[in-house]
Amino acid sequence: MKSLVCPGSFDPVTNGHLDVFARASALADDVVVAVLINHSKSGLFSVDERMEMLREVTAPFGNIRIDSFHGLLVDYCQANNITAIMKGLRAVSDFDYELQMAQMNYRLAKVETLFITTNPLYSFLSSSLIKEIARFGGDVAGLVPEAVLERLTERFSATMDGPADGTPAQL
Ligand code: PNS
Repeated sequence: MKSLVCPGSFDPVTNGHLDVFARASALADDVVVAVLINHSKSGLFSVDERMEMLREVTAPFGNIRIDSFHGLLVDYCQANNITAIMKGLRAVSDFDYELQMAQMNYRLAKVETLFITTNPLYSFLSSSLIKEIARFGGDVAGLVPEAVLERLTERFSATMDGPADGTPAQL
């Protein structure tokens, strides 16, 4: 298999995402982790910060690259000669929407989607939950990579309910 893309918001990357990247890396020659640039939704971390964290945590893999995209994922795939999209499925609740997107992406541009079952150790994890727990001082160690843990702590260190610069926290 040639190139796979793992797309997402990754605000921030979790150990569940990392597990999917590792398994994609073992299956494909080349893996691109592509961060969606969404102008209508500001995250806790900027796209540049998310990409920086992703670069750090995927550095040990020789065949994972980090990129960003806006617009349609299928256009990004076609422009970059990407063979297929890879997604992790945590639970049945993920399936309905993922199936719809996979079928639409195939309909739009014949881009295939491959699903990989999430490691049960991380099946309850989401970036939103991580942000909510970290925001209120909960312990997310072991659920996100060390580089992410440091940034979350830094971001929420000034107050228990918002970023250090005083702006309201974005969940
Ligand atoms: O981590 P997320 O936010 O659940 O990832 C969702 C993502 C980025 C994979 C999805 O929203 C997406 O592919 N967006 C790009 C726009 C697009 O192609 N939309 C049509 C999907 S059929």
